[in-house]
Amino acid sequence: NLMDQIHSLEEQFTVSGEKLKEVTKHFVDELNKGLSKKGGNIPMIPGWVMEFPTGQETGDYLAIDLGGTNLRVVLVRLLGNHKFDTTQSKYKLPDHIRTSSSEELFSFIADSLKTFVDEEFPEGVTEPLPLGFTFSYPCSQDKINEGYLQRWTKGFDIEGVEGEDVVPMLQEQLAKRKIPIDVVALINDTTGTLVASMYTDAETRMGCIFGTGVNGAYFDVVSDVEKLEGRLPSDITSDLPMAINCEYGSFDNELVVLPRTKYDIIVDKQSPRPGQQSFEKMTSGYYLGELLRLILLDMQQQGLIFEGQDLTKLQKPYVMDTSYPARIEEDPFENLEDTYDIFKNELGVETTGGERKLIRRACELIGTRASRMSMCGIGAVCTKRGYKTAHIAADGSVFNKYPEFKERAAAGLRDIFDWEPRQNIEEYPIVIVAAEDGSGAGAAIIAALTQKRLAAGK
Ligand code: BG6
Ligand code: GLC
Repeated sequence: NLMDQIHSLEEQFTVSGEKLKEVTKHFVDELNKGLSKKGGNIPMIPGWVMEFPTGQETGDYLAIDLGGTNLRVVLVRLLGNHKFDTTQSKYKLPDHIRTSSSEELFSFIADSLKTFVDEEFPEGVTEPLPLGFTFSYPCSQDKINEGYLQRWTKGFDIEGVEGEDVVPMLQEQLAKRKIPIDVVALINDTTGTLVASMYTDAETRMGCIFGTGVNGAYFDVVSDVEKLEGRLPSDITSDLPMAINCEYGSFDNELVVLPRTKYDIIVDKQSPRPGQQSFEKMTSGYYLGELLRLILLDMQQQGLIFEGQDLTKLQKPYVMDTSYPARIEEDPFENLEDTYDIFKNELGVETTGGERKLIRRACELIGTRASRMSMCGIGAVCTKRGYKTAHIAADGSVFNKYPEFKERAAAGLRDIFDWEPRQNIEEYPIVIVAAEDGSGAGAAIIAALTQKRLAAGK
């Protein structure tokens, strides 16, 4: 019966404090392995940002920010004194772009930039505008203004980009449209989040994304990044800081500690890149709705729910994005009327009260597991770096919109570090705070730091 089903789901999806500690411990080892010459599952990519922003950088910069769901074009005015202003336009990525061609992707970006520049600079542009490019996919770089895409993540699958440097691809489309822009820096969204928040808050120790994907960045020290040996220009000394984009969505692809359920295994098998991003597939927004869909289909196949209903819509992979579990969790519990409407109007399924209870519980379990598990990345970086107190700057649709995410995440961190319970989650030693105005601002700050370094002849 339904109660047994709920219990069985609870058993599969509940991650105990002990398990979180075990995962975090292994995570620390894997971060270290990623920094070694031999490497490991976690890429730990040096981002070539080698100084902290002072908060006094000034100037006007353009930034583009290609996240999982939107393209943002941003004009950033760095004001000094730990303050900046941004003017932004947001363009939703058309669905087909995820699997289109590189030409289409970079044309879309260049067209959006052109629209923005025409609006913001109606009198035209004489000097090339410096631009920071936030590209939220794993890219190898030996310098700040290049980025060789290692592999697509988050369901993207565009041919002809993996293994290539994306900066010239963008620059080519800009040249075609005669837009005078100079791509000065390419960064990850986590690095952008980290640097933008450091500009305004010196206590920031990590930049984290809980969105379509899951990832974090922090500052290490050059001498502790073993794999940089022999790759460093002569002017770089070993005591300098180095931003590291962990790319920890790929944590434990070897499947040593991840508590995967049969649904996680299906998500992985049916993805364009099986065996990759194992941690991300359990924790990030791109997959939460899909996990719910797979649970429901499984129960229906066992003859437990949705008897006699037309499941044509529900049978379509990824038909439910994260807004589904998010909206279902927001539904006041009494009779779950919103949930009834969602299933009836959007999926063509008439649900009973019992079924809605099960759906709701499944969402709580998926959402709770994601928020708790995603704390292991933060727990591991803080342990590795010895941070006892820290502000962790966070961004992304799951962080900003998923109900209870922040409370569940704080409880997860508390379990990892054995903190005494506090009334208010802001009182814990390590606090997750909303990032400052998107990673585009970080891209602009990094562009400013880069120009300053170039001007100083370094
Ligand atoms: C945005 C950041 O707010 O969040 C982006 O500015 C980031 O850089 C994005 O990629 C991640 O969220 P989502 O939900 O779009 O993947
Ligand atoms: C994926 C990407 C990573 C990005 C994260 C959050 O994990 O590989 O680069 O930071 O999503 O957007």
